[in-house]
Amino acid sequence: MKILVIGSGGREHALAWALHSNGANTVLVNPGNPGTAEFARNIVGDSVEIAVKESVDLVVVGPEAPLVNGIAGHLAKKGIPCFGPSAECARLEGSKWFAKEIMASAGVPTATGQKFSDPLSAIDYMGQYPDKFVIKADGLAAGKGVYLPGTKKESDTIIGDLFKGSLGQAGASVVIEQRLEGREVSVLAVCNGTDAVILPPSRDHKRAFDGDMGPNTGGMGAVCPPTDVPYDFGEYVRERVILPVLKVMNEKGMEFRGVLYAGLMITEFGPFVLEFNVRFGDPETQAVLPMVKSDIAALFLAAANGEELPPVEFRDGASACIILASGGYPGSYSKGYKITGYKDTESLVFHAGTSEIDGTIVTSGGRVIGVTALGEDIDEALEKAYRDADMIEFEGKHMRRDIGVTV
Ligand code: AMP
Ligand code: GLY
Repeated sequence: MKILVIGSGGREHALAWALHSNGANTVLVNPGNPGTAEFARNIVGDSVEIAVKESVDLVVVGPEAPLVNGIAGHLAKKGIPCFGPSAECARLEGSKWFAKEIMASAGVPTATGQKFSDPLSAIDYMGQYPDKFVIKADGLAAGKGVYLPGTKKESDTIIGDLFKGSLGQAGASVVIEQRLEGREVSVLAVCNGTDAVILPPSRDHKRAFDGDMGPNTGGMGAVCPPTDVPYDFGEYVRERVILPVLKVMNEKGMEFRGVLYAGLMITEFGPFVLEFNVRFGDPETQAVLPMVKSDIAALFLAAANGEELPPVEFRDGASACIILASGGYPGSYSKGYKITGYKDTESLVFHAGTSEIDGTIVTSGGRVIGVTALGEDIDEALEKAYRDADMIEFEGKHMRRDIGVTV
């Protein structure tokens, strides 16, 4: 098969790597990064035009923005299968309230909440207990639209700023929901519209510093599967969350074909869904895909075409992905530092924010590289991943030392 992967980060490097690994597929990446260039062809330009010109058999979309903007529909018009949902289905990520309405219809456990279109009623809803609630911009906010206020002053400011346009249209309406407590787990489900294959559960670590301190990032590392998750958790999520959501979406005329990512919290009352994404997680993908033994290209093509999903086998043991970030990330950071040692590792090295300048690989983003290792158990995977993460050097390198330990 000839497959086009869309995106340029660590997630897309992992997708391209997995699609390439059976040796039978030609992989193109738009635009790709220096890591994908090692085994695939990077192409800059308009994704749909490239897919048509190259007569690809399948397009696999990494980030949410092209999905929300309707790339699946544009490709469908050209007769090209797209692994990634239609714009309508992508509203599960593009609107927090839409996701909540679907969950309510599907009977999926989620925090009780309400949507507000003006600041006063939102502030009124939280009363004197803002620390019992979570404030979410309804629209897409690149991971920046969720707030857990500590005081009334803070929550009033957040609400005020959102309605003044601090996040643009994303905050034109807000969802306020009950704050839950528990451990978080991500579940990625490959869906063909009516059925789903669940990939092994994973956990990412979003805060910048050890002990879950510091600002939120895109994710500083991930493990798969987390040790505290019951072995049949994936099946539970399939039955209680994914299949009911697919059914309700179908009843509304929407056939979800692609990855449905459920961000869950395991509370004292059982698992609750915090959010849906309509794409693979980053860096969860870099930990999850190496655990898949079967040919994922066949799985993605079947899902994209709405066909029966082939059986999928997973490795025993566990995997861990450690993110090496630029010093200062997620705030401001310098770029252009030479990266060394990444070719000598036993682990998988997934490029995220790197560039090639005159044959030298340098840093060019906040999250620079992800190092993924497999092991018989999580301890072994972590030991190998950290050993190799320590071999890679660039000025200002920052990584967390407690991936897989803090939950
Ligand atoms: P979301 O983008 O909706 O997943 O939210 C980002 C993060 O905010 C989650 O990973 C949680 O850590 C936190 N969060 C979201 N919703 C809730 C909730 N209802 N209760 C507690 N924490 C939440
Ligand atoms: N790692 C979180 C996400 O991809 O949304």
